[in-house]
Amino acid sequence: MNIPLFKIYNDQEDIDNLSKEISSGGYWAVGPKVGEFEDKLADYIGSEYAVTLNSGTSALHALLLAYGIGKGDEVIVPSYTFISTANSPLFVGAKPVFADIEEETYGLDPDSVAEKITDKTKAIIPVHYAGCPARVREIKEIAEDKDILVIEDAAESFGASIDGKNTGTFGDSGILSFCQNKIITTGEGGAVVTDSKEVYEKLMLIRSHGRLESGDYFSSANLFDYVDLGFNWRMSNLTAALGLSQLNKADEIIRLRRKHSEYLSKKIAEVTDEIKIFNPPKAYNHVYQLYSMWANNRDELLDYLSEKGISAKIYFDPVHKSAFYRDKLGYVDKLPVTEKVAKTTITLPMFPELTEEEINYMVDTIDAFYNGD
Ligand SMILES: Cc1ncc(COP(=O)(O)O)c(C=O)c1O
Repeated sequence: MNIPLFKIYNDQEDIDNLSKEISSGGYWAVGPKVGEFEDKLADYIGSEYAVTLNSGTSALHALLLAYGIGKGDEVIVPSYTFISTANSPLFVGAKPVFADIEEETYGLDPDSVAEKITDKTKAIIPVHYAGCPARVREIKEIAEDKDILVIEDAAESFGASIDGKNTGTFGDSGILSFCQNKIITTGEGGAVVTDSKEVYEKLMLIRSHGRLESGDYFSSANLFDYVDLGFNWRMSNLTAALGLSQLNKADEIIRLRRKHSEYLSKKIAEVTDEIKIFNPPKAYNHVYQLYSMWANNRDELLDYLSEKGISAKIYFDPVHKSAFYRDKLGYVDKLPVTEKVAKTTITLPMFPELTEEEINYMVDTIDAFYNGD
């Protein structure tokens, strides 16, 4: 049996939506689907505004620019994340400061965050790792007291919630990613969600050349003025069409991921106690963008699973230990929980179309690894 790490959930609606835009003969770059996708996205997440961009990384970069974060500022980030979370302060000339995570959610530990705050701290970026909400309410409380921004990195946690409130809406703003292994995907893509009109207006300029857009630039006879420095970080109309059809399936995608993950967790617990399953607090609705777990003899297990046709992976190696941060930037942080968790965590295949047979095969393989054939 061969089980990939992820498989994109797609259907005829994705093909139809995209084909319709292709055959329109225009609107391959900007077009009406972008605004439509943004309106529906904001509705789904529960924010006033959604601004799409060409990636989650651009969303982080654009947001830090929109908040005017720059040289001399510090931004607190986890090291247990995808590298672009930590890189985003560097993009704008600010300094990423690593705080440790806690073991229940694998998200930033509020106590560690509090210790890392200085008078230069301008923002905190909690990451909702693997689709599990981080302790963002506690972090927001700490930040509010000190007038520090909270920017949620919800790249992995589309549709995850705490007490029914979606990740991305607890902080001052949040970012989403629609890269191919995420909960919903447009191939590449991202978005910012925010309640701030000011941030929304700045992002509209930043993502499209600083241009004041009062219509469709490509087909309008009007002259548009350029009022700031901006980039081309737009999501295309083709991509947004795919976003709309993916969004229609989001609830079903999340339902299936949760169902498979809960079944997998139950089955693993029946065969071994060498594995510790992710067990967030009850009110935390985990969407399992990744099925990550803590495992004894993790590296040997990874090799064994791969021999048996199961694509497991390590998410993540701590950012502060990467050659770039360690050798080029000189980071020498000690983050005990991050380092411990990073040595023992393994990510198994998880996607909506995973079959019961495939899940049972994963469990049997884990059983054979720990208990012998
Ligand atoms: C936590 C986290 N932040 C940011 C990103 C960046 O998103 P993108 O790949 O869309 O640039 C990712 C995606 O891999 C991620 O997992």
